[in-house]
Amino acid sequence: MLSSKVTCNSHGQDSSYFLGWEEYEKNPYDEVKNPNGIIQMGLAENQLSFDLLESWLQKNPEIAAFKKHNNDQCIFKELALFQDYHGLPAFKNALVRFMSEIRGNTVTFDPNNLVLTAGATSANETLMFCIANPGDAILIPTPYYPGFDRDLKWRTGAEIVPIHCSSLNGFRITKPALEDAYKQAEKQNLKVKGVLVTNPSNPLGTSLSLHELDLLVNFISTKNIHLISDEIYSGTVFSYPSFTSIMEVLKNRNLMNTEIAKRVHIVYSLSKDLGLPGFRIGAIYSNDERVVSAATKMSSFGLISSQTQYLLSEILSDKKFTKTYLSENRRRLKQRHEKLVKGLQKTGIRCLQSNAGLFCWVDMRHLLSSDTFEGEMELWLKIVYEVGLNISPGSSCHCSEPGWFRICFANMSEETLAVAMQRVKSFVESIVKKNTQSRHQQLLKRDSRRSKSLPKWVFELSFDHQREVSDER
Ligand SMILES: Cc1ncc(COP(=O)(O)O)c(C=O)c1O
Repeated sequence: MLSSKVTCNSHGQDSSYFLGWEEYEKNPYDEVKNPNGIIQMGLAENQLSFDLLESWLQKNPEIAAFKKHNNDQCIFKELALFQDYHGLPAFKNALVRFMSEIRGNTVTFDPNNLVLTAGATSANETLMFCIANPGDAILIPTPYYPGFDRDLKWRTGAEIVPIHCSSLNGFRITKPALEDAYKQAEKQNLKVKGVLVTNPSNPLGTSLSLHELDLLVNFISTKNIHLISDEIYSGTVFSYPSFTSIMEVLKNRNLMNTEIAKRVHIVYSLSKDLGLPGFRIGAIYSNDERVVSAATKMSSFGLISSQTQYLLSEILSDKKFTKTYLSENRRRLKQRHEKLVKGLQKTGIRCLQSNAGLFCWVDMRHLLSSDTFEGEMELWLKIVYEVGLNISPGSSCHCSEPGWFRICFANMSEETLAVAMQRVKSFVESIVKKNTQSRHQQLLKRDSRRSKSLPKWVFELSFDHQREVSDER
C-alpha cells in the first residue's frame, strides 16, 4: 500500500558510511564517561572555530534577541511573518559577498542568480530536478561523498555513473576517464545530463587543478551537458595549491556570457566553512535564469528559516569578522591536518597529499589481509569494533581501489585526536607483531620441511659447518 519510494533502497542508508555512524551512536567515546567508546572520525564537521562565532554573538547580543543592529527596534514579528521564497535580500547580498571573499574577490556573484536552499543537500537535489529526468545520468569522479547516492538519485530517479579515478595519478580527473564514463553511460542506455564535481574534493581533501577545470569545461562544452560544482569546502583551503572556483575559469576564458556558462551551476553551504550544518544554510548559484526561476519555486520545499537568514546576514556583513574568521579557521585546519598526517606517519600510514577539507584520504592498503573489498571490509570492522574508531571505508565513497579510508580531524578536541592516534599505533603494532610471528612460524615450518626433504649429506654438511664455526669462536 506504500509508494516505491518507501521500499526502494537507493537512499543508501545501509552503506557502511551510515552504519559506522550507527555503531558510534551506540557506544560514543567520552574522555570521562566512556573512555573505551568509539571515536567519531567519520563525520566531516568543523568544530575548530566555534569560539570565534560565540564571541561574535557575545559582542552582538541584540542580534540574537531579534533586535536591529545599533537600534533597539524589535523585528521578531517581521521575521516571524516573512515567507518570501526569494529569501531576505540582506542575507543574499551578504552571502554573495562572502562567496567572493573566499575566492579572493577574483569573481563577483549576482544575488539575483542565487537560490537559497536548506543546505547543500537540498541544493544538489534541486539542481538534479532542474537538469535531469528520471533515468538520466550524471557523471561523478570517484571517490565521492557517499551522501550523493541519496541526494542525487533517491527522489529524482536519476542515475550516477562513476568517473573512475586512480591512485596512480593521485585520483586526478583525466580526459580518458571522462570519456570512459560517458561511454559506460551510453552502454547502459542512459542519457548523460552532466558532470558533478566537488571542489575541493570530499573525500580527497584536494582542490581541482586548472588543468582539470579546463578539461571539465571542454568536456561539457563538446558534449553539450551541465556542470555542477559543489564548492561547499571552498573556505577550508589551508595550504598550497590555492582553490580556483569554476566561476574564475569561466571568467578567465571569456565564457561568462555564453551558453556554456548557463550550463555551469555552483552549490554552496555554510555547513563546513562556518561549521553550521544544523542551521541548514545552502545555495545554488546559476547563470541560467530558467534554472534560477525553477529552483526558486522548488526551494519552497526546503527554505532557510528567516531568523537564521537574519542572524547570518548580520554575521556575514561584518567584514572585519569574516576576514579574521576565514584566516584563523584556515590556520587551525592546517595545524590539525598536520597533527593527523604526522600521527599516522609515525605508524607507517600515508595520506594522500591534500590542501583542504576536514579529512584526510588515508592509504591502508598494506594493512589489508587481501587486496579486495572483502579485505577492506574486514579491516574496517576491526577498526570500528576493536580499535574503536569510526572511519569511512573507500568503498562507501565508491573508490575503485580497496584499502583507502577517509579520516576526519576537525570534529573533535586535540586530546581526543591524540587518543585516536594512540589507538592506531597500538593496532598497527599488534598487526606487525602478528605478521612477524606468523612469518617466523612459516620460516620454521619451511626449514623443518626442508630439512626433512633434504638428503642426509646436506644436513651433515651443515652440521659440520656449524661445528666448525663454533670451534673457531
Ligand atoms: C560534498 C558535500 N556536498 C554536500 C554536503 C551536504 O551538506 P549540507 O549539510 O549543507 O547539506 C556535504 C556534507 O558532508 C558534502 O560533503
